[in-house]
Amino acid sequence: MKILVTGGAGFIGSHTVIELALAGHTPIIIDNFSNSRPSVLDGIESVLGYRPTLHTGDCTNPVFLTSVFEREHIDGIIHFAALKAVGESLEQPLRYYRNNIGSLIDILDMALHHGVRAFVFSSSATVYGDPETLPIPETAPRKPATSPYGNTKQIGEDILRDTTIMANGTLRSAALRYFNPIGAHPSGLIGELPLGTPNNLVPYLTQVAAGNRSTLTVFGNDYPTPDGTGIRDFIHVVDLAQAHIATLEVLFSEKRLLETSPVYNVGTGTGTSVKELIETFERVTGITVPYTVGPRRSGDITSCYADPQKINKELGWKAKLSVAQALEDAWRWQQNSPKQ
Ligand code: WQD
Repeated sequence: MKILVTGGAGFIGSHTVIELALAGHTPIIIDNFSNSRPSVLDGIESVLGYRPTLHTGDCTNPVFLTSVFEREHIDGIIHFAALKAVGESLEQPLRYYRNNIGSLIDILDMALHHGVRAFVFSSSATVYGDPETLPIPETAPRKPATSPYGNTKQIGEDILRDTTIMANGTLRSAALRYFNPIGAHPSGLIGELPLGTPNNLVPYLTQVAAGNRSTLTVFGNDYPTPDGTGIRDFIHVVDLAQAHIATLEVLFSEKRLLETSPVYNVGTGTGTSVKELIETFERVTGITVPYTVGPRRSGDITSCYADPQKINKELGWKAKLSVAQALEDAWRWQQNSPKQ
């Protein structure tokens, strides 16, 4: 199938492009390179042996989108393209709403008008806020969003569901709620390439280990967890990428879904603390990571990990790779990636 991957040069998008191609699909990439680099296409080409089609442009530009949809006959869409920095979204809410919501509306409009059959939306575990139950099932309530970024994911899920209901079977869709994606392709040829200072733990940690930054700050060690640091469900980006292929395959099949536009948690089901993650990194790489403990980061929650049974059962997908493997792969990528 021909699958349009918006944000296909980004961290999760680029890994998904590779897994799509390996599964026999034809990925078509759209990216505006606002938080990625064209050189990721070289990495994808080295892994696959060919360069997927790239359309450089913005998903909020309907003229550009129309030209892509008229040129390609798209069967399915995975819509990653979005702004994703929580803190930045508090400073620039309109930019986040305009970009993340505007692009989703335009892409869905294109999907409806060009006979696209399957649509996968990138959502986030952030929709659960500070959860009352752990592990978190999809039935847990969505909490009022604490940032415009988080709100765009909640609104996005709703827009997708309403559009799918209206399409009455011609378009099938699902939203995937990602927990914490980490790691890189095992080839070391593609990985996470944050522009500027990384917001997330693993890219920061690997940059410290590489000597590009002096010290990692652990944001709080007074949480009510066994070692006092926050707990997350860190999932290997290749596992996460494969979850998209599993989702598309069910959407393209005749299989009846129990809901219109279901949401699925994409996590391992296991929580790992920040301290455990640093120790695992040190063990697998043999590098000591200099870190200090600082105050809690505003907006952070104590613990967040998935109950992944729904996706395991309904889509037949299960995370296979360990946090140790993800950290080894992230480190291999860091050593190959340009110094920033
Ligand atoms: C993980 C843990 C930090 C950096 C965020 C978004 C979420 C999703 C994924 C993305 C926390 C601690 C971090 C550091 C630290 N969205 N930490 N020192 O906050 O769980 O999720 O990314 O697009 O919506 O909120 O991920 O990697 O930032 O933090 O101690 O320098 O690491 O406090 O406990 P988070 P993270």
